[in-house]
Amino acid sequence: MAKKISVSRADKFAFGVWCVMNRGRDPFGPETRPALSGIEAIRGLGERGVYGFEYHDDDLWPLGAGPAQKRKAIARARQAMKATGIRCTAATTNLFSHPVFKDGAFTSHDARVRAYAVQKAMANIDVAAELGAEVYIFWGGREGTDVDIGKDPIEALKRFRECLNFLCEHVLAQRHPMVFSIEPKPNEPRSDTYLATAGHALALIATLDHPDMVGVNPEWAHIKMAGLNPLHEFAQVLEAGKLVDIHLNAQKPLRYDQDMSFGADNPKEALLVVKLLTDYAYSGAKTFDAHPFRTEADPWDFVERCMRAYKALELKVDQVNSDARLLAMLEELVGADPDGWDAVLASYSKRNAGKLRGAKFNPDKLAQRRLRYEQIDQRLTEILLGVE
Ligand code: NOJ
Ligand code: MG
Repeated sequence: MAKKISVSRADKFAFGVWCVMNRGRDPFGPETRPALSGIEAIRGLGERGVYGFEYHDDDLWPLGAGPAQKRKAIARARQAMKATGIRCTAATTNLFSHPVFKDGAFTSHDARVRAYAVQKAMANIDVAAELGAEVYIFWGGREGTDVDIGKDPIEALKRFRECLNFLCEHVLAQRHPMVFSIEPKPNEPRSDTYLATAGHALALIATLDHPDMVGVNPEWAHIKMAGLNPLHEFAQVLEAGKLVDIHLNAQKPLRYDQDMSFGADNPKEALLVVKLLTDYAYSGAKTFDAHPFRTEADPWDFVERCMRAYKALELKVDQVNSDARLLAMLEELVGADPDGWDAVLASYSKRNAGKLRGAKFNPDKLAQRRLRYEQIDQRLTEILLGVE
């Protein structure tokens, strides 16, 4: 009998409040859903048993709000958190909506715009710490180009680095228990965005003054927009010890940013990402960053669907991880190491180098080993489809 899915806070599911505030506007038509405030979004998510939320500063108080208006919004957010038990798992700065950021925030040519962006981030970092956020995200929405001759990419990266370094020092000075996270995206809204993939982000992080304070939150849709492999991107970040948050959704490859519900496309790939997170005990929040289809009347079916999709895939991961036929084929695929080469390759020494230099291999014979990928992939497909 099929197992029942039940979601609880222990699943550590989170949503960006902007996902449920999304009203269905797209480049070709206006809103199709009524407005929902940031506070209503927090409350609605909390009432549905969601573990956490992420927000942008502008989601909770309007740009230019005075201190009193801002304090009021923060107090209301705290009330909603207390009433429903939801936590603030991560926060971020809106450095992309206002026209002041039309040519970038941290990578703007204009030092005043860069200073304003850093000031805006600093202010919200302090609020995020107050709300208990342990992760602070940097998605460089407008950090890119439409006209490449207009911006020196070396200079742009230097500026990006400078701003992140400045903000790391701010976090240290304030003693906030918080790490930063870079969210890569290849394009949209700019033609080309800096820090397009996890690899770009990891490379920049290695050059920061405090690389240990900065991780990456890969987003499924952003990876597929570049035609890349979400499993490989998530794994690279995880292996680097940098997976501090994740943005889950769905996306058909090489298209505009669709931000569909998690599991809406390519369940096999989604299964393998859930398997990775399960097998390697990823312990951060599992955050959905998507939005309901424009045809939806409200965002709540979408919220339930994303969480149920993850749980359903988790059940499949259990099956995959205990399927004797599949496990046997995978074991055979990995094979044994009868001559002890694993140990030799694990570390260079004169002795190991000598052993390797003198070894005789028979490549034709090695190439004859049977690799049952067709059967393995089919078994995975059958588990996914629930057939024997
Ligand atoms: C909106 C983007 O669409 C989303 O991917 C990102 O995670 C948030 N902004 C955070 O900046
Ligand atoms: Mg995102």
